[in-house]
Amino acid sequence: MRRRFLLLLVAAGGVAAGEPDPKRQQELRSLLKNDCGACHGLTRKGGLGPPLLPESLSGKSDAMLLQTIQEGRPGTAMPPWKPFIDADETVWLIDNLLRKR
Ligand code: HEC
Repeated sequence: MRRRFLLLLVAAGGVAAGEPDPKRQQELRSLLKNDCGACHGLTRKGGLGPPLLPESLSGKSDAMLLQTIQEGRPGTAMPPWKPFIDADETVWLIDNLLRKR
């Protein structure tokens, strides 16, 4: 895993984050649907939480989105996901949210 990550870094000239392996991507998609979906809607159109559609997120900074997902929003229902998804996985998730529904 570690070795693969390093290889990816080398291949991409040192800028890309390590992409989760296919099995983990599957888990992350399922988490997105079931866990995030519980508050943000199965189709991400919003519910208890705001919509997570590309058009709703496109103007927002990656740093803010990363921070929100990793740390949650204290004082709101948005919980921190750091214990379950690391920063690279969160970046991958955000990429996914911005690209498609
Ligand atoms: C228990 C309910 C709940 C769950 C589960 C949840 N969220 Fe949230 N989320 C919220 C709420 C409520 C807000 C709005 C917080 C506020 O008022 O600032 C929010 C805000 C956000 C935002 C900021 C949106 C914006 O427009 O600023 C993002 C991004 C986000 N959530 C992503 C996720 C992701 C990804 C997951 C799953 C890993 C997730 N959330 C799971 C309730 C939830």
